[in-house]
Amino acid sequence: MRPGGRDPIGEAARLLRERRGAVALTGAGISVESGIPSFRGAQGMWTKYDPMEYATLHAFVRSPRKVWEMLSEMISVCGGAAPNAAHKGLAALEEAGLLRAVITQNVDGLHQAAGSRRVIEYHGNLEELICLYCWKRYRTRERWSPGPAPRCDCGEILKPNVVLFGEPIPWLPQEQAEEEARTCGVLVVIGTSAQVSPACDIPRIAKESGAAVVEINPEPTSLTGSVADVHLRGGASEVLLRLQEALSRGGDAPATGPSGH
Ligand code: OAD
Repeated sequence: MRPGGRDPIGEAARLLRERRGAVALTGAGISVESGIPSFRGAQGMWTKYDPMEYATLHAFVRSPRKVWEMLSEMISVCGGAAPNAAHKGLAALEEAGLLRAVITQNVDGLHQAAGSRRVIEYHGNLEELICLYCWKRYRTRERWSPGPAPRCDCGEILKPNVVLFGEPIPWLPQEQAEEEARTCGVLVVIGTSAQVSPACDIPRIAKESGAAVVEINPEPTSLTGSVADVHLRGGASEVLLRLQEALSRGGDAPATGPSGH
């Protein structure tokens, strides 16, 4: 318990126990400990690749080979990554009946690799390649290898089935994510800067629909102290392990550890 009596880990555990139907919303921060860089911040992808030149649909159509420089790096890095304790912690919460879905902005497939069963991929995934001209689809591992950009049988350069800036969110994950946000008891928001629309609307939708919002992030975000009821400050793995401990004890967390806002 912190001085003043507030124990954010204990508070988050209480919310998860008492308000059934928790859902997680994850961003790049949850995969940082798996060796996948986030987008923003000092070590982020956008310090190396200008998103306007490498991450828009317009850029892909104009110069797909250039955009593939970044995409190839992402596929290589994500392909070699394994789920960390945070991905596994969410899978364990689902197994225990305390979490019913993960909505993720990530395209790395690590929630499924950790054992999460209901994963809503809001920005698509790197598993599949699609032709923007004839709409044929391929498994990435069957068509891609480091080197020249992969091509469709029709001759055009393929695009990973991920959402680039300027593309709409596919309707099914968007509908599913909004339904989860409208009906969940708790939304646990992990490792997102909440700067990209429309994913950043999900916490607000949950809050306005009556859910409690728990944020896990080492840094404050635009959600902290406004939309978020509880901010568990720290890395995703460390915080989720402590949350799992608190849930298994059925009571408050011990005195040390991540602080709340
Ligand atoms: P960002 O890179 O914007 O934010 C990552 C967040 O993770 C930051 O708030 C960090 O403080 C936090 N973080 C860093 N290390 C962490 C750790 N160990 N544990 C928990 N949190 C940590 O990534 P996103 O918010 O996911 O979209 O970015 C959203 C979207 O922007 C991405 O899906 C991608 C990007 O442009 C598209 O490409 C369409």
